[in-house]
Amino acid sequence: MLAIEARGLTKVFRSYERRPGFWGGVRDLIDRRHREVVAVAGIDLAVAEGEIVGYIGPNGAGKSTTIKMLTGILRPTSGVVRVHGCDPHRERQRFVTMIGAVFGQRSQLWWDLAVQESFALLAELYRVPRRVAEQRLAEYESVLGLREIMATPVRKLSLGQRMRADIAAALLHAPRVLFLDEPTVGLDVVTKAKLRDFLRELNRRERTTIILTTHDLQDIEALCPRVVVIDHGRVIHDGTIEALRTRFGGGKRLRVTLRAPVAELPAIPGIKAWHRSDDQLHAVGDVAPDADVPATLAACLAQLPIDDLRLDEPDIEEVVRILYGDRSG
Ligand SMILES: Nc1ncnc2c1ncn2[C@@H]1O[C@H](COP(=O)(O)OP(=O)(O)OP(=O)(O)O)[C@@H](O)[C@H]1O
Ligand SMILES: [Mg+2]
Repeated sequence: MLAIEARGLTKVFRSYERRPGFWGGVRDLIDRRHREVVAVAGIDLAVAEGEIVGYIGPNGAGKSTTIKMLTGILRPTSGVVRVHGCDPHRERQRFVTMIGAVFGQRSQLWWDLAVQESFALLAELYRVPRRVAEQRLAEYESVLGLREIMATPVRKLSLGQRMRADIAAALLHAPRVLFLDEPTVGLDVVTKAKLRDFLRELNRRERTTIILTTHDLQDIEALCPRVVVIDHGRVIHDGTIEALRTRFGGGKRLRVTLRAPVAELPAIPGIKAWHRSDDQLHAVGDVAPDADVPATLAACLAQLPIDDLRLDEPDIEEVVRILYGDRSG
């Protein structure tokens, strides 16, 4: 059975547009103007149990809206959602025990309660025996460092502390599927790295399925063998990070440093084109997708006075920049 299944998932937000000024307000009373935003425009998604999927796209692409529909927070305008075969609205009880969710932009915890009180309440709600809850929290301690913040009211936590508490809260009932919407926002590099290790371990040990939305591409590279890219509410790529590189990254690049300038760079099978620096000591070759890489390298070494040579994968940052275009903002 699939961990997550979405078919034709669509969300249209309808809002009223206000006319300016007093008379505009009067007209609005009689004749309201609707404005429709298609946030998610028919998404199909199938995620097997134990997968970690990166869900990325530019600002406003519809990522959070998708996650909210997958977690039952928002009702889709149309389409179907199933998590382990379960409908988020018709089987609410079973559904909530199966999923955990972290929204980096907004806490799920009670603002005025101390962290430990929030945890106690959650354990109660999810019917997690106290001892089991305590044991789980102890397991998270080394990564999330919760002890020092247990007695602090949530509203007094720093962003990073709050995020750690939120993550622990989402995992307290050991959900089968974990939805993370920008969970590393505001975390320092050390905590980020620990969290990545923690998620990888959780996935490996418990086979927890993870959907991760983030603008931090290092999170994606570290964790997600599969990446779904959306834009304007539609899936524009669903596959491996490698496939994303090949499709949008323009292939591998060969960077050479020469011992002495050469007047002319030789034509070498497997190099589509050379780009050279002004000092004629450095050159970058676009490697053809079907190139025999070892033969290409050997030909370069034979024909050029090479001092140093490096083969670069297209940088995922660059791939995403190409993919998103200048649509950010
Ligand atoms: N409650 C709402 N009412 C009206 N429009 C909304 C609502 N929530 C989101 N939208 C609109 O839906 C679109 C998608 O928003 P969404 O929050 O899903 O984007 P996102 O991919 O999560 O972006 P970001 O990277 O900025 O978090 C945007 O145009 C947004 O303005
Ligand atoms: Mg979002």
